[in-house]
Amino acid sequence: MTAHLDGNAARLYNRYLEGKDAHPVDDAAAQAVMEVAPWVQRVAQHNRGFLRRSVHYLAGEVGIRQFLDIGVGMPQSPNVHEIAQSYAADARVVYVDHDPDVISHCRAMMDSTPEGMVEVLEGDVTRPQSILGAAETQRTLDFTEPIALLLVTVLLFVPDDQHPRPAVKRIIDELPSGSHFVFAHATADFAPTEVAEIARIYAEAGVRTQVRTEAEVQQFFTENGLELVEPGMVTTNAWRPTESEPFTTRIESGVWAGVARKP
Ligand SMILES: C[S@@+](CC[C@H](N)C(=O)[O-])C[C@H]1O[C@@H](n2cnc3c(N)ncnc32)[C@H](O)[C@@H]1O
Repeated sequence: MTAHLDGNAARLYNRYLEGKDAHPVDDAAAQAVMEVAPWVQRVAQHNRGFLRRSVHYLAGEVGIRQFLDIGVGMPQSPNVHEIAQSYAADARVVYVDHDPDVISHCRAMMDSTPEGMVEVLEGDVTRPQSILGAAETQRTLDFTEPIALLLVTVLLFVPDDQHPRPAVKRIIDELPSGSHFVFAHATADFAPTEVAEIARIYAEAGVRTQVRTEAEVQQFFTENGLELVEPGMVTTNAWRPTESEPFTTRIESGVWAGVARKP
């Protein structure tokens, strides 16, 4: 079975978002996951919904004009810059991912964006200085003005032995007061048996994962001295749901999420 699996976190996630008809026959891992957890496409959709609503909130209500989106994944319109620039044409975004395939897709998308407003950087969240010190980041983001840091369903792929906590702290420490942290993290809290099986399928495909509990996810906010905005840390589909993006069930989310302000 392993020989047929597609060991790429971004592409697997993209398969769930594109729906059943989009699966190539050789995409055995995505297929296996959907058999174990038929609601996994809803997980991905709720995750994108949270990301969109959080950026609408930050750009539209808080007035944030700078976004650092780490673990951006394959482009999915509306992307962060499209939402942010619908409020302010001068909103700036740096997209980061460690996957060269994701980076080339993001760069292709950037052809249509105004010069200097959106940058794409190949970087790894476990090496924060390579992101903070990169020329793309430095010329695009002003670290004296509030920045929104997005880590949306990325640390699932950063097990504890890769030290995600000091990495996140290092980045948040660099952000000025008034900055915000948009964080979403997969959990096994609602479907432990199925999530354990999904982890096994991913591992077989060469993708290491680590789900985290509610308390472990919450700690990323508290240990960095951040103030969660309403409604606090909830499942993605319970974060400011709308009529068109309503709350369904916690299993269909499977992801803890929140937006917090740096005082
Ligand atoms: C599930 S996708 C999430 C995409 C997007 N943030 C969203 O929520 O729609 C996870 C992404 O994180 C990226 N990723 C995983 N580990 C990473 C790391 N150590 N540094 C940077 N990106 C990483 C993967 O390549 C993938 O594109």
